[in-house]
Amino acid sequence: VARVTIEELDDVDQLRELWLQLHHHHRSVSPVQPFVDDETSWTERRKGYVEIIAAGGFALAARVGGELAGYALVKMHDEVDDSWQLGSPYAEVWTLVVDERHRGEGIGSALLDEVDARLERAGVHGLVIGVMVGNEGARRLYERRGLTPGWLQLYRTAPDSSG
Ligand SMILES: CC(C)(COP(=O)(O)OP(=O)(O)OC[C@H]1O[C@@H](n2cnc3c(N)ncnc32)[C@H](O)[C@@H]1OP(=O)(O)O)[C@@H](O)C(=O)NCCC(=O)NCCS
Repeated sequence: VARVTIEELDDVDQLRELWLQLHHHHRSVSPVQPFVDDETSWTERRKGYVEIIAAGGFALAARVGGELAGYALVKMHDEVDDSWQLGSPYAEVWTLVVDERHRGEGIGSALLDEVDARLERAGVHGLVIGVMVGNEGARRLYERRGLTPGWLQLYRTAPDSSG
């Protein structure tokens, strides 16, 4: 899409609203319930983002007319995976989300293209992306890009403590 620009972003506080859109999307598609509340979710997510960026990861922002319309946040793994041959370092797309007003316009694909281009320039080959069970749209997108499902995690949740 011609009017979309993608650039690196270091102020993670701008990502709260889009993260919560993803949190709500996850809550609506996941067979595992209940979910944590928005404040808890963003507080914990933000902590992880700060650590990931400090350790060599990066965030890419997609903008439409200057407005934030999506982001990809990528973690770099320095360790060697104990199962699959991913190379070292390898990368993990920790978050990908596009504003619900702009989904299906190619922005998510453009973000992933830029992630791939940066990794290629850095000589990084291995890439991992987690997708929740139930999030079939995202899974289809990743599989179409050549990634193969390789891990399924099962959950037992804690009793609801909010009420
Ligand atoms: C998944 C997501 C990042 C893809 O970005 P996008 O800009 O909508 O995707 P693109 O336009 O580049 O590509 C379209 C493909 O994305 C996938 N997709 C997932 N959710 C979608 C949605 N709500 N609308 C349109 N496409 C969606 C589909 O595979 C679609 O291809 P299809 O035509 O075969 O269905 C975006 O739809 C989104 O933010 N969804 C909700 C949050 C989410 O699931 N994030 C991924 C977490 S692992």
